[in-house]
Amino acid sequence: MSALHNRPARQPLRPARRLALSAVAVLATLLGACGKPQSEDPEARARLIEPIARVVLKVQKVAAGNRSGEQIYQGTCAGCHASGALNAPKAGDTAAWAPRIAQGFDTLTKNAISGIRQMPPRGGGADLTDTEVRRAVAHLANSGGAKFEEPPIAK
Ligand code: HEC
Repeated sequence: MSALHNRPARQPLRPARRLALSAVAVLATLLGACGKPQSEDPEARARLIEPIARVVLKVQKVAAGNRSGEQIYQGTCAGCHASGALNAPKAGDTAAWAPRIAQGFDTLTKNAISGIRQMPPRGGGADLTDTEVRRAVAHLANSGGAKFEEPPIAK
């Protein structure tokens, strides 16, 4: 169980969250400043907050579904699949992965999403989208000899 506690599941998101939070704080300050009579014009207000609103949207976009297979593997899957904890097939272990790869990409992904025996649904990464799980499955299985195509990240 200690592997579960040690894995840095949400680490990569922290700076992004902090940025989003401080952007919200700046936004609130700007909106407060708009309370002064000379800047009541809603268009002027919109122009003032536009750059910050953009930053907030961009941060959220990265957080919601655009992580790469490698990023997800490091953040969520490596906790078990790097060490083989709970008898997880290890990354890079072609003998362990061959019979699993033979089930096909869709079955592997389905099992990774719903969980299989000792593996929790989505490897415990409850905020991962289905496409993100597909990317992580491709990344992990490819390390074990598969040639799956990792679904691209929308730009
Ligand atoms: C808590 C430990 C743990 C974590 C975290 C974890 N896995 Fe697993 N995984 C396992 C175990 C254990 C198995 C073997 C299950 C079995 O077949 O008994 C497994 C098996 C798999 C399989 C093979 C499934 C099959 O049908 O044979 C895939 C694919 C997989 N994991 C992908 C992932 C991905 C992708 C992540 C990260 C998003 C992840 N796992 C995170 C423990 C984990």
